[in-house]
Amino acid sequence: MNVVYSSTLSTQDYCKLRKSVDFYEISEEHVRRALDKSDFVISAAVDGAAVGMARLITDGTQVFIMDVAVHPDYQGNGIGRGLMERIRQYMDGLECRRVIVNLITDSSKEGFYEKLGYQKAEGMRLWLENIEKT
Ligand SMILES: CC(C)(COP(=O)(O)OP(=O)(O)OC[C@H]1O[C@@H](n2cnc3c(N)ncnc32)[C@H](O)[C@@H]1OP(=O)(O)O)[C@@H](O)C(=O)NCCC(=O)NCCS
Repeated sequence: MNVVYSSTLSTQDYCKLRKSVDFYEISEEHVRRALDKSDFVISAAVDGAAVGMARLITDGTQVFIMDVAVHPDYQGNGIGRGLMERIRQYMDGLECRRVIVNLITDSSKEGFYEKLGYQKAEGMRLWLENIEKT
């Protein structure tokens, strides 16, 4: 399988990929803003179609990795690893001596991240929800 990685991702492909892995829906306006504000975006394509993505935001001392997703038809082919390796290359370029890398995942995906060196960590989280907003 010829997988092409690039640092471009359209809002439409982002929405399609989110939907394919059952991530909750986000309005296109917020998606555009989220992509614009990302410090690094990576996508994977097969035969010209987007099949995977990941992105991160950082202030240079901490990183938050988000939206790591591979279309279900393409999972198990090393694409998730390929995306995360490129994320790692970007993070290795940060200047700070110690960088904390954060991400949220459910327990069924922990093994994927553990293979890449990530460890479980305690933390606190607040979900802000308001059904009046888009
Ligand atoms: C998690 C996800 C990104 C993995 O992508 P993928 O392309 O299927 O993963 P890869 O084929 O690159 O797998 C890399 C390695 O991780 C392992 N792996 C993949 N998913 C795993 C899982 N859920 N649990 C344990 N190990 C896993 C693979 O076996 C492979 O191991 P190997 O290198 O020893 O052969 C993909 O399953 C996905 O998009 N899931 C839905 C969205 C999601 O939950 N994303 C994460 C939360 S942000």
